[in-house]
Amino acid sequence: MEITSFTSAAAHLTVRIAYRSHDGWTRFSEFHRHQNACGEWEWTGALPQTAERLSAAVASHPRLRAICADYGIEPDGEEGPIMAIGGSSNADLILNASTLGYLNSAWETLDCTYGLGRFWRKWSPDPSVFRRHDLNPEKAPDGPMDFTALDYPDGRFNAVVFDPPYKLSGTSTGAGPSASDADYGVEAYRSVEATHNLARDGIRECLRVLHPGKTGSRETGGFLLVKCQAQVASGRVHWQPRVFADFAEQFRGVRLVDMFHLPGHRAQPKGRSQAHARQNYSTLLVLRKESR
Ligand SMILES: C[S@@+](CC[C@H](N)C(=O)[O-])C[C@H]1O[C@@H](n2cnc3c(N)ncnc32)[C@H](O)[C@@H]1O
Repeated sequence: MEITSFTSAAAHLTVRIAYRSHDGWTRFSEFHRHQNACGEWEWTGALPQTAERLSAAVASHPRLRAICADYGIEPDGEEGPIMAIGGSSNADLILNASTLGYLNSAWETLDCTYGLGRFWRKWSPDPSVFRRHDLNPEKAPDGPMDFTALDYPDGRFNAVVFDPPYKLSGTSTGAGPSASDADYGVEAYRSVEATHNLARDGIRECLRVLHPGKTGSRETGGFLLVKCQAQVASGRVHWQPRVFADFAEQFRGVRLVDMFHLPGHRAQPKGRSQAHARQNYSTLLVLRKESR
């Protein structure tokens, strides 16, 4: 059972789920969870076994756990593990990364591709230690800055988040599969190699301004989170997670320590034959720079 969306208000939650039915089809259902007069949680319209499974799904969903905490409610059921594959937005990946200690609200943190700030909708560092930049001045609450030439000294941050324009979709037409190119920071045609070189230049700069953490002590930070996606372009798969992680690992004391994969929903472009598995996920790399 997968939670696909939910809405919430104090003492009331609407959860939309996807599930595999007996005939093998994925179906959707909506359930309402509310507090009765005695303050107990009840599911409307769910059979007892379904209610039990819904409670477990709610308890293991990071965002729903956060909502329960906001309202001072104990989520029922066991807390589930943080999964390598899952979530419904990049904000879920960031929330999961913070839960595992790759981000910390007290750490000096840089987001050098802030965009619309969507990464931080479920968790964010304390504003006093958070620097938010982007090349586009309208998307840079703390001022425009080029991620290939960051105006910060070496080792300034305990954590850096980098979400470069990684999409390999050719010329942006503003329609069809490239309708969201502006969201991805792709405003003009860029070759695969140029896209990767731009990201490599950014990774180099991010690692420069990242203070190394101490080996064996996650609490000291030193994490660089890089968003990317394996993609098919010009008839071959470009394994960005490999390309970017291999590049980062060439730097002294840097290694890939984790990956979070976000399932995606883009359809196969019409009229194009399919030669490779559709890469229906994007990836948040967690790289650690350690002092040696
Ligand atoms: C994939 S989007 C980031 C989306 C963002 N994480 C969010 O939550 O909305 C890539 C961003 O990189 C920015 N960008 C592109 N080239 C840049 C550069 N050289 N320096 C800094 N930012 C750049 C774009 O303006 C765009 O906002």
